[in-house]
Amino acid sequence: MFANNVSSKWYKNQTRTGNAHVAKRAKWSLCAQVLFTRKELPITFGVHTADTKKSSHSIRWMTMSGIFQKSCEHMDEVPAESVALVVTSPPYWNAIDYEQHVSDPTAWYRTRRGGTYEEYLDWLRVCFAEVFHKLKPGGFCAVIIGTILNERKQYPLPQHLVTTMEELGYEFHEDIVWSKVTGGVKRAGVTIQHPFPGYYCPNIMTENILVFRKPGPRIYAEQTSDEKERSKYDINSIFTREVANNIWHIAPVPPNYLPHPCPFPEEIPYRLIMLYSYVGDAVLDPFNGIGTTTKVAHALERDYFGYELQQKYVQVALQRLDEPLRLRDQLIPVYEKVPVTDSPYQRSLENHKRKRGQMTLFETTREAQEEYTADTPDRCDYDALKKQATWLRRKKQPMVISPDLDGVLSALLLHHLWKWELVGFYDASTLWLLKEYGNLDATKPTFVDHDIYRKHLPSIGHHMLKWGKDTPIPECEGPDAQSFNPNLIRGFTLKEFGRKYPFGTFHLLLACYGAWGDLKDYRPSRDFIPLLIQVDSSLQSAFTYEKNALEWLEWLGGSDDERSPIYPLCKALAAASSKRLLRWQAQLGDQIQALGFTRHSQCKTDNPTDREQWQRLQKLLAWLEELTGWTADFPDFPDAKVVRTDIRRASCKPTKTNFVKVVAEKPFSYALISKTEQGLNYGHLP
Ligand SMILES: C[S@@+](CC[C@H](N)C(=O)[O-])C[C@H]1O[C@@H](n2cnc3c(N)ncnc32)[C@H](O)[C@@H]1O
Repeated sequence: MFANNVSSKWYKNQTRTGNAHVAKRAKWSLCAQVLFTRKELPITFGVHTADTKKSSHSIRWMTMSGIFQKSCEHMDEVPAESVALVVTSPPYWNAIDYEQHVSDPTAWYRTRRGGTYEEYLDWLRVCFAEVFHKLKPGGFCAVIIGTILNERKQYPLPQHLVTTMEELGYEFHEDIVWSKVTGGVKRAGVTIQHPFPGYYCPNIMTENILVFRKPGPRIYAEQTSDEKERSKYDINSIFTREVANNIWHIAPVPPNYLPHPCPFPEEIPYRLIMLYSYVGDAVLDPFNGIGTTTKVAHALERDYFGYELQQKYVQVALQRLDEPLRLRDQLIPVYEKVPVTDSPYQRSLENHKRKRGQMTLFETTREAQEEYTADTPDRCDYDALKKQATWLRRKKQPMVISPDLDGVLSALLLHHLWKWELVGFYDASTLWLLKEYGNLDATKPTFVDHDIYRKHLPSIGHHMLKWGKDTPIPECEGPDAQSFNPNLIRGFTLKEFGRKYPFGTFHLLLACYGAWGDLKDYRPSRDFIPLLIQVDSSLQSAFTYEKNALEWLEWLGGSDDERSPIYPLCKALAAASSKRLLRWQAQLGDQIQALGFTRHSQCKTDNPTDREQWQRLQKLLAWLEELTGWTADFPDFPDAKVVRTDIRRASCKPTKTNFVKVVAEKPFSYALISKTEQGLNYGHLP
């Protein structure tokens, strides 16, 4: 930590005052040369002074500091290779007439006199060559500089200076951006008046703090641990949230606050001196102005050298050495996501992203989802569901599945967890049952991926079932109903068709078993994700029912619970661009095709008793077993062992009258598949 009353904290107000340096300055002007020649002598041969630094060191060195009214082109007063750090801001080409400012600060001093830009660069080269000569090997040179505007042209001075400095032998070390936050050159008015391409003139709110290094040993290499400790700075929240980043937010010195047209704020040399020099080191500002660098260097117990042409500025700089540091409260940016309310802009951005396939699904839907979340429960009550559908966790149930990817995957899961046995297939037109299960009333198999309207036949499906909230479904609702359907659970009806569950039976089962702890140790592999977006065309549904896709996943608890087995689906849908999702799906399509199904299909089987189709189904099962790590044993479904029942299918317009009539006829299964013409589909047993 710093000794005395100099703090190593970032921006604690400094109160150091004293007279030692005043005496020293007086002595300096008389015998500067003598003091310099003695500089290299250890204190045993030299002169003790009140300002002697590095007290922990057995060999002590003379203090040397001074502010000179002369050009920095020849800094003869500074010994070669004696300066550890330069902090400076050169005059900006022809921007300010300092002489004019000194003689009458109220008159116009932004006069733009002087030579060409190239001549200015050559002059900077001369000054920084002299600085290079004075810098210690390994020492730093921080130059605060910005682009120059002259006659509607921008001159990239920082970029040009880097080239110049490298040519002089400096190494480029760091580029820190000084964000002026409240200040800067305001130009955007032009753009606001002419909002057309080509008129863009942003406000210039930054300057660069270019840090160069003279090649040589690291500055900490020769410091003892005590010396390091003395110069140590605090790692506090100001450091981690601001100084640690290479964008520094520091308001400029307000106009007319100090008697110089463009002093830099004390915070800048304060940070640089703390970061790039040790107590007792010499800090130089070759363009010292009113001495901000020399003031801060002195306060931080560094030696200081300053060069300045204008006598008035030198006088102020000397006075300022006595003043306490004026470090202001720190500005730290806080970032907040702000929805873009300018809708034409948002729309064009969305269209652009959509066209390029860059948009994630939920970027397109977020706004719409907000409409929905207000009046719906946030989360599924899994405890209540567990009590309601105890049969979902019963062992060795016979099951009838849909002959497609959703059905087979669900069957695989149910067999893996509860040893459920496959006894039949149902595709809403035909029912294939192993003969011994042919009597549904007696064997009561569970229908998976279907909604069945028989109280004694448990089923798990996900179609829209209710016409309206006040229109009951006798066989499916009520305390002893065995139907498990997410739309029924949430009370969604045809009237709110857009809120329909957009995923598969498999997702629903995964979410439930995940929440009930039955899949505790199961970790899906990466290959699982494409499968999750493929099952029951979930990706397409998520886009079609984009308004409620995220909301459903949130309800299922998969969007924020990393342990949920459907979390990977949520993550993929929320984070991957549509292009990427489609690519995954295409890759999966290749695999599906290799199994003998069409690329974009749901691996449907028209007739499981057909040998060829059955073998293809077995291949599908084997592939899914490999992907999931689960195993299932499906029996053969040869014609001879199967009872085939054709279901009498029909459809009609989904009006209330039709709905009530169809339900009263006790169909075997039905679904409200759309609000349009033939939206009510149903099937009767013969
Ligand atoms: C951008 S100002 C620096 C302000 C300074 N950082 C401060 O906080 O007060 C540049 C200064 O360089 C001075 N200057 C111009 N030519 C110079 C030269 N050849 N040698 C030394 N100083 C010079 C100007 O008078 C001006 O005060």
